[in-house]
Amino acid sequence: MFEVLPQLPADPILGLSAAFKADPNPNKIDLGVGVYKDEAGRTPILHSVAKAQQILLGKEDSKTYITPQGVQGFIDGLSELLLGKGNAALLSNRVAAVQAPGGCGALRILAELLKRCNSDLTVWVSDPTWANHIPLIGNAGLKIKTYPYFDKATASIKFDEMMACLAEVKSGDVVLLHGCCHNPTGADLNRAQWDEVLGLAQKTGFVPFIDVAYLGFGDSLEDDAYGTRLMVNNLPEVIIAASCSKNFGLYRERVGLAVMVTKDTQTRNAIQSQIQSIARGIYSMPPSYGGALVDIILHDPSLFSEWQAEVEMMRSRMQDLRGLLVNKLAEYGAKQDFSFVNQQKGMFSYLCISPEQVKAMREKHSVYFVDSSRVNIAGISLNNVDSLAKSLVSVL
Ligand code: LMR
Repeated sequence: MFEVLPQLPADPILGLSAAFKADPNPNKIDLGVGVYKDEAGRTPILHSVAKAQQILLGKEDSKTYITPQGVQGFIDGLSELLLGKGNAALLSNRVAAVQAPGGCGALRILAELLKRCNSDLTVWVSDPTWANHIPLIGNAGLKIKTYPYFDKATASIKFDEMMACLAEVKSGDVVLLHGCCHNPTGADLNRAQWDEVLGLAQKTGFVPFIDVAYLGFGDSLEDDAYGTRLMVNNLPEVIIAASCSKNFGLYRERVGLAVMVTKDTQTRNAIQSQIQSIARGIYSMPPSYGGALVDIILHDPSLFSEWQAEVEMMRSRMQDLRGLLVNKLAEYGAKQDFSFVNQQKGMFSYLCISPEQVKAMREKHSVYFVDSSRVNIAGISLNNVDSLAKSLVSVL
């Protein structure tokens, strides 16, 4: 039976790691998959996470099943981090939430929930959006359409076009927004723009679906939650998929949270039962380990401060690398102005170069990044920035 299926091309993002590994060039540069790297190119376990692992080792006394919704301390702690202390929806018991296997798991079960609510609805995603949004949402059987978001020619958000498109979205349709650090462009809505999107959601009745995968990597943990909190505080229904892969460095532990803000407690209880039955029908319950670590960190004041400082360190290192790349490009004679890279936020930047130029970077210079021209800023280092900038200038 298997012979009916063809071999598929490599994943546009994860496939880059295999291609990079296979490249024998000792000076190759990996700016592909979105993982944080230090100056030595390692993705270290955060100190706060290492300490939490020791605590967990000392106190965990069973490997029996956890509850279907996941580690409750993790759910409570991360919900509060996202929505803010004293959030009215949390206090009035309007928020359903389950731990999920990574941000991907959260996106997928939320898509399944939307399908149960209305199999006819459309999910609107930004053009461009993270490549895996399409299969995660589309494979649940939902229709996907795009709204204009980023203009490669000016390296900026097409806000007027975006708003004109969203103004036509039907009530009950869903609009996927990136809470912060837009993947792939790094171009984020500012506060005034978030306010306008809220006004439109109130007017047209679309439901925001917010993907928060990089909290703390943009401006700060608090600032990066602005759009998410604004929506939750002013709309009856909001959906959130959060990930702890990046800001806790827990990539392989698959730690995510699916959050559904509902109109009232009765609806909340129904939705909580629905999302748990969806999870049960796919993977039964989430793995406990990563969620247990985040629970420990969020509820231990000293570990929490240490983790905040580590997030701040990663954020400011990436910000410095942006400046370094922009300066080096100018130093090596780039005619194009790349200063927009300094304004972009988080782990990614869209260099706004052509697919042919991206291909030339890979084939001639062994520099690996996504065809769209998305680079992982954290893959830049003091060691490779000169060679990176020279190679880029040579393909422009
Ligand atoms: C990325 O965008 O590179 C990361 O989120 C990893 C992934 O799964 O695509």
